[in-house]
Amino acid sequence: MKNVLRNAWYVAGWAGELEGETLLARQLLGEPVVMFRDAAGAVHALADRCPHRFAPLSMGRLCDGGKAVECAYHGLRFDSAGSCVLNPQGGTIPKAARVRRYPLVERYSALWIWFGDEAEADPALIPEFDFLVPEHWAVGTDHMLVDAHYELESDNILDLSHIEFLHPIFSSAAVRRGEIECVQDGSTVWSRRTMLDDDLPPFLRQAFGIPEGARADRWLDVRWNAPAQLALWAGAAVAGQPREQGRVTPSAHLFTPASETGTHYFFAIGFPRALGPMAETLAAQNIAALRGPFQNEDKPIVEAVARRMGTNDLQSLKPVLLAGDAAAMRARRILQAMIAAEAAAAAAPATAQPA
Ligand code: FES
Ligand SMILES: [Fe+2]
Repeated sequence: MKNVLRNAWYVAGWAGELEGETLLARQLLGEPVVMFRDAAGAVHALADRCPHRFAPLSMGRLCDGGKAVECAYHGLRFDSAGSCVLNPQGGTIPKAARVRRYPLVERYSALWIWFGDEAEADPALIPEFDFLVPEHWAVGTDHMLVDAHYELESDNILDLSHIEFLHPIFSSAAVRRGEIECVQDGSTVWSRRTMLDDDLPPFLRQAFGIPEGARADRWLDVRWNAPAQLALWAGAAVAGQPREQGRVTPSAHLFTPASETGTHYFFAIGFPRALGPMAETLAAQNIAALRGPFQNEDKPIVEAVARRMGTNDLQSLKPVLLAGDAAAMRARRILQAMIAAEAAAAAAPATAQPA
């Protein structure tokens, strides 16, 4: 896949998707990948294509205590490093009998994969999603495929002015007069929306514990990190009271290109375990509640936008820009600069002249 950052961590799945003998197949950045967990609990990712006759390894089975995958077609076995460890037809193992392995890390309830230079795959580069740490938070997770470029998905979260028109359940009259702020901190972009003295719809009043008849101050703080990893803190407090006295619900919106035109949307919501057994219930209920608007409201319009745009780049179509576009435009510029820098670095050794 072209025009994509390779030296970056992408979400490949949720940690809970790798259980027992599961071989999880997923197309990521245009490449077929198979993921599995060994008996010791470590997670692994390999290219999902046997080098013999190209059967998907995900059609095979885990063997040797989860340390190897056996191809379903003629039985070659590959360990988690991608080396062939058994040729059932005997004789030596051909040198070419190996598959690519990808660094895979389990963190924040997610599986993070690296497609670039393995020497640079430092897990410290994964953006922080504390509210997805399963020891301290009950985490609800979900996933859907969207037929649109992943940058359109980042744009969608970075400009939440759309909730007034697209999502009646999350909306209120104050959204349009909300104050918006776009801040860049290093290569992180913040998009903050504050709505004071709001009359919240019943669903939101209940979610944020605002008493009936009381007005509320509400905020939506979005953080973006390249390539397309977003955190959203949605909060509300009784109008005029400090934020700390209100409630905040953090959610994650993690986008990974499946191909040039398709995107994996991994979304999650966290509730602190300090709430007791209720936390699990809230996580399960709220992740289910999010799926409705994401699937029935965001996905159709983002996909329709992608169809109207065709293969054109956003800027080439000269979009009309509104106040709410600032954060998305900033994020796009940062990402494109990172991709360009990576391409320049990759080209450098080939063009360097010997002294
Ligand atoms: S295709 Fe995998 S062993 Fe033949
Ligand atoms: Fe939305």
